[in-house]
Amino acid sequence: MEKTKVILDVDTGSDDAIAIMMAVLHPDLDVLGITTVNGNKPLPNTTENTLRVIDLLGAGDKVPVYMGCADPMVAELTPDRHAESRQAPQKMEVGGEVVEYHSEYLDMLPPSTTKAQEKRAVPYLIDTLMASQGDITLIPVGPLTNIALAMRAEPRIKEKIKRIVIMGGGHNITNRTSAAEFNIWKDPEAAQIVLTSGCQVLLVPLDSTHAGDVTLAESRIIREMGTPVAVAVADLLDQRIKAYDMFQPQKIAGSTPPHDALVVASVIDPEVLRDVQFRRWMWISAEESATAERWWTAGYTRITLPIYRLRWTVTGSGL
Ligand code: BDR
Ligand code: CA
Repeated sequence: MEKTKVILDVDTGSDDAIAIMMAVLHPDLDVLGITTVNGNKPLPNTTENTLRVIDLLGAGDKVPVYMGCADPMVAELTPDRHAESRQAPQKMEVGGEVVEYHSEYLDMLPPSTTKAQEKRAVPYLIDTLMASQGDITLIPVGPLTNIALAMRAEPRIKEKIKRIVIMGGGHNITNRTSAAEFNIWKDPEAAQIVLTSGCQVLLVPLDSTHAGDVTLAESRIIREMGTPVAVAVADLLDQRIKAYDMFQPQKIAGSTPPHDALVVASVIDPEVLRDVQFRRWMWISAEESATAERWWTAGYTRITLPIYRLRWTVTGSGL
């Protein structure tokens, strides 16, 4: 079977890390490259974390990493979206144990030895897509800044993109504000450009990823595989589960949604997503993010107005 060519766009974090491992190791995917973006952490951190994962996979020679945008497209309009106001690590001591969420780096992995490429993410995306046969799937699992800027810089790439499978948005479930999911909230202008690009878009929102929670028992099964990658995945899951129990309890105690991994899983096997809906309209509240008073509506993904057609998944099954 011919492999599916993909480019991952990540703001690595723990769930991005698992998504990268899944994509690079799966025989059905050909990961051409990975681009990094400012997201949960500033760009140097998300890039370093990505390189640590690449080192763990021994993929330094096979999967090049390109640094992307260090800020959202219109950062100065809303200071809270600026990289410097990144989410601080959250820590809490419970029974003598410190539970950390959004740590600066993926501490369970050693500092990277692989280096990022000289070329930056946006020119890489443009050159690779323009030289392609229209057979590359983009998998952005962070804010959409790199993809949107590439589209702005070279609009012809839109005809070259096979499809875009995005982790982003939320309908009944949100996580950054009462109205917005983090990736869309962080750069709603970029999201609007990508979602209205006319490309074939599949949006995998929190409603899907939260239906794919992984439990402590499942993490244990992964750990028992005993390989360095399996142990790293279990470490990442266990850390996430502790943090979710503390800061974002799920319906099942002792579980976590590894959001970005579900998105990669859906490219490998579309059957992991059910109730994929075709919607004719989508609207991201980007312009309203321009003022601090309207902070709460930035990245709002619930309101829909007729604009473009895209796919919206509502539920997802487990990994
Ligand atoms: C998204 O935000 C990031 O923290 C996660 O990696 C995921 O892509 C969830 O809202
Ligand atoms: Ca992410």
